[in-house]
Amino acid sequence: MYYIKKVACVTGADHGLGMCLARWLLENHYTVFAGQYLQDSPSLAAMKTRYRDRLYLIPLDIGDRESVKQAARTIAGSTGHVDIVINNAGIIHKADDATMLVDMDDEAMARIYNVNTLGALRVSNELMGLLLQGKQKLIINISSEAGSIGRNKRINMYGYCMSKAALNMQSSLMHNHLKVMGGQVMVFHPGWIQTYMHGEKAVEAPITPEESAGKIMSLVLDHKKYMGEEPAYLDLDGNHWPW
Ligand SMILES: NC(=O)c1ccc[n+]([C@@H]2O[C@H](COP(=O)([O-])OP(=O)(O)OC[C@H]3O[C@@H](n4cnc5c(N)ncnc54)[C@H](OP(=O)(O)O)[C@@H]3O)[C@@H](O)[C@H]2O)c1
Repeated sequence: MYYIKKVACVTGADHGLGMCLARWLLENHYTVFAGQYLQDSPSLAAMKTRYRDRLYLIPLDIGDRESVKQAARTIAGSTGHVDIVINNAGIIHKADDATMLVDMDDEAMARIYNVNTLGALRVSNELMGLLLQGKQKLIINISSEAGSIGRNKRINMYGYCMSKAALNMQSSLMHNHLKVMGGQVMVFHPGWIQTYMHGEKAVEAPITPEESAGKIMSLVLDHKKYMGEEPAYLDLDGNHWPW
C-alpha cells in the first residue's frame, strides 16, 4: 500500500517535548493528531492557526480509558491510517523524592504507573488498527534513562523509575508483535530537557525541547538502521542503553 499523506499522533503535546515533536512533524509535512491534555492550550491553539489543515487537536487524558477510546474514535473519523504513534506524555510526582519507602505513597505511585506505563499501552492499543494500515508502523515511546535497570545509580524516584522500566518492557512486547507485521518500536531517553515536569521550566537543564525533538526525529527517520530483534533503546546521540 502507498500513501502520500504521512500521519502521526503525539500525546502530551500542550508544551515541552511533545509540543516540539508535533511542531517538527508539521514542519516535515506530516498530518498531526496532537493530544491536548489541558482544556485550554494557548500554544496548541496558536500552532493550529499556522497549520490549520494538517493539525488536529484531540482532547486526550492517557490516564483515562474512555478519553483514549474517544480520541481514537475521533482520529479514525479523520484518517484511515497512522504512520507514527509517539507516546510522549509522562509525569513525575513530588512524593517520589523519598529515598526510603517508610512513607510510601501508594496513590502517587499508582498514578505515575497509570499515566507513564498504562497510558502509553492504552494509546498504542487503541491506535493499533490504524497503525497497521500505515506504511511505517512505528511506535515511539519516550522513556528515560530512569527506566534502565542496567545503568541505575538512583536511590529514589521508585515510582517514576519503575514506571519507565515497565514502559521499556511494554516496548519489547509490542515490538515482538509489530515486527512480524513490518512495524517497529523505538524507545528514547530524551535527555535532561528544559521542560515543565516539575511544574515550572527546568532552566538549569542542558538541552532545549526543540533540540531533543530534532535529534529524536532524525533517529526516527533512520529507523531501519535500528531495526532488530529487540527495540532500539537510544539516547539523543543514537547510543544504545542497557535495559
Ligand atoms: N524533562 C526531562 O528532563 C525528561 C527526562 C527524561 C524523560 N522525559 C520524558 O519525556 C516526556 C515528555 O516530558 P517533558 O519533559 O516534555 O515534560 P512536560 O513539559 O511536563 O510535558 C509532559 C506533557 O504531558 C502532559 N500530561 C500529563 N499527564 C497527562 C495525561 N494523563 N494525559 C495526557 N497528557 C498528560 C503534560 O500536561 P501538564 O503539564 O499540563 O500536566 C505535558 O503537556 C515524558 O514522558 C518524560 O517522562 C523527560
